[in-house]
Amino acid sequence: MVLFTKKILSLTLFLTFVFTTTSFANDGYNLWLQYTKIENKKLLKEYTETIRGIESIGNSETIKVSKDELNKAFSGLFGPEYLLKQNDSGNNTLIIGSESNLAKQIRSKLKKEYSQIEKDGFVIKQIQVDNKTHIVITGKTDYGVLYGVFRFLRELQTHKSISGINIVDSPKVAIRMLNHWDNLDRTVERGYAGLSIWNWHTLPDYIDQRYIDYARANASIGINGTALTNVNANAFILTPHYLEKVKALADVFRPYGIKVYLTARFSAPIEIGGLKTADPLNADVIKWWKDKTAEIYKAIPDFGGFLVKANSEGQPGPQNYNRNHVDGANLMAEALKPFGGIVMWRAFVYSEHDASDRAKQAYTEFVPYDGKFKDNVIIQVKNGAIDFQPREPFHPMFGAMPNTNMMMEFQITQEYMGFSTHLVYQPKLYEEVFEADTYRKGKGSTVAKVIEGSLDNKKLTGVAGVSNIGNNMNWTGHHFLQANWYGFGRLAWNPNLNSEDIADEWIRQTFSNNEHFVNPIKRMMIQSRETVVDYMNPYGLHHIFDTGHHYGPGPWVGNLPRPEWNPTYYHKADEYGIGFNRTKTGSNATAQYAPEVAKKYDDISTTPEKNLLWFHHVSWNHELKDGNTLWNGIALKYQSGVNKVENMASLWNSMEAYVDIQRFKEVQMMLNIQLKEAKWWRDACLLYFQQFSKQDLPNGVEKPSKTLKEFQSMRFPFAPGR
Ligand code: GCU
Repeated sequence: MVLFTKKILSLTLFLTFVFTTTSFANDGYNLWLQYTKIENKKLLKEYTETIRGIESIGNSETIKVSKDELNKAFSGLFGPEYLLKQNDSGNNTLIIGSESNLAKQIRSKLKKEYSQIEKDGFVIKQIQVDNKTHIVITGKTDYGVLYGVFRFLRELQTHKSISGINIVDSPKVAIRMLNHWDNLDRTVERGYAGLSIWNWHTLPDYIDQRYIDYARANASIGINGTALTNVNANAFILTPHYLEKVKALADVFRPYGIKVYLTARFSAPIEIGGLKTADPLNADVIKWWKDKTAEIYKAIPDFGGFLVKANSEGQPGPQNYNRNHVDGANLMAEALKPFGGIVMWRAFVYSEHDASDRAKQAYTEFVPYDGKFKDNVIIQVKNGAIDFQPREPFHPMFGAMPNTNMMMEFQITQEYMGFSTHLVYQPKLYEEVFEADTYRKGKGSTVAKVIEGSLDNKKLTGVAGVSNIGNNMNWTGHHFLQANWYGFGRLAWNPNLNSEDIADEWIRQTFSNNEHFVNPIKRMMIQSRETVVDYMNPYGLHHIFDTGHHYGPGPWVGNLPRPEWNPTYYHKADEYGIGFNRTKTGSNATAQYAPEVAKKYDDISTTPEKNLLWFHHVSWNHELKDGNTLWNGIALKYQSGVNKVENMASLWNSMEAYVDIQRFKEVQMMLNIQLKEAKWWRDACLLYFQQFSKQDLPNGVEKPSKTLKEFQSMRFPFAPGR
């Protein structure tokens, strides 16, 4: 009996242990800043003995929030009792402060490191002063200190040793920002994680804790800008009523180094200014923008500037007045110049009046203006020439405007990648774009170098990501899509980082440091990008999404008024084959690349198969590198995409022991949706294309679950994101 009771007791203890480590609910709100208690005794000892107290030097708000963050993190990582145990014996202190505020003795020990960092870079180093050992986190600016603090916390969260720590790092890109496509009514264009986090109604008086946590999360990955409003802009944001609210947000973000930007509707002088025209050369219009800009800076002295979508998809712009992009962008640039603000002028333009290949139109419209934009204008270019597809070759503009500031635009939100229910690790895509070679100055002229500014010695550089954030409890709708926000920030800080390393650090901070979890989950994330390509758009297919909302497949859509809105325009399937001929025998889009790149894409035998149907119209019987015909290859790719999602789901099912119950279940349900939808993509696309190939599905491809007609009749008038 005693034995039995003992057994029950130890079982209960065991279960309590399991319960407390894995079964508590975690809603994911804390993102990668989980600061989970370190259970490894040895590590905990190292950390707590190396950091016996914090000394913060300087009294700016930034230094204050840096110290608060350290306290918050330490009480989580080391346990709340740690904060009481801190002492100021003078030894083993963590010292934080910017160069000019630190004691001379310390500064002189860090001379070499200071010479290695740029503005907002940081140094984390263990040094000896007066026979005492300290870790110093410093930079030239307080923002550098803040970035250093977050970097230090990443080391702790990923369980790295800090003995002898010595890290020197600086951002490689000046502007690292999120673009929110958020409307004033709180709907989010292409948003799949709830409503906008900006509650315009309760601002400026009510400061939601979420605004502060948003700033912390962004600062932790180096993001230093946010455009609050949709590029399909509403002029009202520039009225005093809203500017007061914008100011409140700017005040919250300032200590975290985040500047606020607004989208400027080109016709604002008419809509809110009472003018008859918005002609960029009209004197009243020029004055209106100058006055408006001065008004904004009066409230927000460090306002970042304007983001503008003009003469694109029905938005007003200079062309309405027979002026051009240079006239429009320079108008605003002039108004912003005295205050140090910038204009981010978007290059996402195409027109139903232009019969040429849509992929060519932005280049055709912008490249002739190279060198004509003012120096505080930066042209914001999407990563590919169409529109954030699961895979696109890099945008040819990146290799064509050496005398113009140019920034990258990625879409973090998954308009074309399964909304927020599909697990797709996008840093893999960002990395592929950055690594692409423009050959503008010969081999090695990568997109990363263009964006960092090193190829042409540019100072105004930037990377923007269209946010995937909403007021969903876990911010991004799917726990794993937090990794895309995270990875975006890390790559914006340094476009040369490796997406696999980023996944590794994200998993450890967000979920667990247990290798049995980290390694397989990392592999799953890394493969997930190719998986979505396989089950949606293999071999360079693109834009075959259902109309308007872009939810699910719609390769059959061909009746929309603008030719380039139709999937049939992009895949061009016929009895001979499939794909868009963009070579010199077709639309000649290849000629927009450097000769080395054009040559590669013009020749079907040197075109990478992943881009095949982007550049070539290819026979169904074309032999692929693996010996399959194109038809069989396409069918097998769709199937392999489905198989890979199946593997993701079963891998996740085996991970229950390592994850809290809430996140485990939520991810599990999402993966089941993803699997269902991957099958839908496979079946609908193959049935549709089969009408042209007139061939059977090869062995190994499952039979479709519905008829083509049934797939075609599916309607989703309330799909999210519109
Ligand atoms: C896509 C997207 C639109 C968006 C546009 C843009 O076309 O579907 O919702 O407004 O891109 O980037 O401006």
